[in-house]
Amino acid sequence: MANVAIIGTQWGDEGKGKLVDMLADRANVVVRFQGGNNAGHTLVVNGKKIISHLVPSGILQGKLCVIGNGVVVDPKVLLQEIDHLIKEGVEISPKNLMISETAHVIMPYHRKLDIARENALTKNKIGTTGRGIGPCYEDKITRRGIRFTELLDADQFKEIVMQLLVEKNFILEKFLNETPLNAEEVISEYTEYARRLAPFVADTTTFLHDQNQKGSNILFEGAQGTHLDIDHGTYPFVTSSNTVAGNAAAGTGMGPKDIHYTLGIVKAYTTRVGEGPFPVELFDKVGEHLQTVGAEVGATTGRKRRCGWLDMVVVKNAVRLNSLSGIILTKLDVLSNLPELKICVAYDLHGKRIETFPANIKKLSDCIPIYETMPGWQENINEIRRYNDLPENAKKYIERIETLLGVKAIIISVGPGREETIVLENPFETLNKL
Ligand code: GDP
Ligand code: IMO
Ligand code: MG
Repeated sequence: MANVAIIGTQWGDEGKGKLVDMLADRANVVVRFQGGNNAGHTLVVNGKKIISHLVPSGILQGKLCVIGNGVVVDPKVLLQEIDHLIKEGVEISPKNLMISETAHVIMPYHRKLDIARENALTKNKIGTTGRGIGPCYEDKITRRGIRFTELLDADQFKEIVMQLLVEKNFILEKFLNETPLNAEEVISEYTEYARRLAPFVADTTTFLHDQNQKGSNILFEGAQGTHLDIDHGTYPFVTSSNTVAGNAAAGTGMGPKDIHYTLGIVKAYTTRVGEGPFPVELFDKVGEHLQTVGAEVGATTGRKRRCGWLDMVVVKNAVRLNSLSGIILTKLDVLSNLPELKICVAYDLHGKRIETFPANIKKLSDCIPIYETMPGWQENINEIRRYNDLPENAKKYIERIETLLGVKAIIISVGPGREETIVLENPFETLNKL
């Protein structure tokens, strides 16, 4: 039995999807525990690109996939994704995909509110994905949400929608100048989703406990990144869930002791989509190199990702917040051909050197990165599969990161494809040997 959590250490898009797909090879079950279709996880298998938003990235390896209770699910998007994957030849049925009966449902008013609220802001826009994520979690916390268990009970669902729409329409119409929603239409649309999704809905917590007892290997798939965490990220420029490893327990119903290895995905540089402070952001030729060579375009919204050098204040924070056992360094290939590389090791805040991440975003916006400079390498590294074959300067870059973090890089990713990977250690193998 070996349970591994894969967590993004930066602001998302670190390459979680690729690594979950690759490591799912050794897992029996892959489970998503937070977020929703704000996530965009890209898998490239045999040259074919597949983007998943809700279905766990273990689906291509034919693993049992679970959408945990901590996820917020837009049933329309989930059905579109299932249909698309089936068309692509991926097998999906209630035998390999389960949705927690206590996962919350994204409703049309969540999407409408998300977009209208952002549009209403003249400054301090969050730059959300507009998928209704924030408003859905908001209703969950204020106990006005609708879970799958209620969605599947036609009478209960109808009663809740009729009651909730009074308030939602009031806000939409009177406060946000939006058109109201028609209760009958919402109910009839969602009744059809309920009919199609009912076979997938299950008591996933009990299922996971049973799998755990049987000795299955469980892979927890994080979405977003540590610095988009609602408690620990760059608030308010964050998402509305806890993205840190601790939530892999709460968002699935497993106990904290059931997570045996936390694996942090570290992109070899930093990116961010949406608004919010970003000390290492670059607006020069290097930023352009990272954006174009790294193909840094949002998998969900198609927005260009903001790019900068690797920020170790950020990654060190992630090591602590997730008690990382190891890291996977991704997109190292994107740094090829740069004459020199910079690593941010601390910030200068009003003339004082700091190495911890300030909570206040005004302070974070004032932080000036303090860099260490290292020589780059000019070789293409996409085809390298053995660590020792990497250029000396690439090894030095990796080793400097390990020293600064006090955590080992167990896998190095050198391209988007599943096989474009240097594996030094497989966490499932390590744990199974213990
Ligand atoms: P996620 O949200 O963390 O799953 O990451 P995304 O899929 O949104 O973004 C990562 C992007 O980088 C995707 O387009 C991947 O195909 C790609 N990618 C992943 N690993 C590597 C790598 O090592 N090198 C390169 N060049 N691309 C990679
Ligand atoms: P993956 O799983 C990058 C960002 C949005 C916005 C903020 C809040 O692919 O790494 P939300 O719609 O969640 O209320 O938006 O969070 N964001 C992401 N950025 N990758 C993601 O997911 C993201 N999910 C949300 O851009 O700044
Ligand atoms: Mg992504």
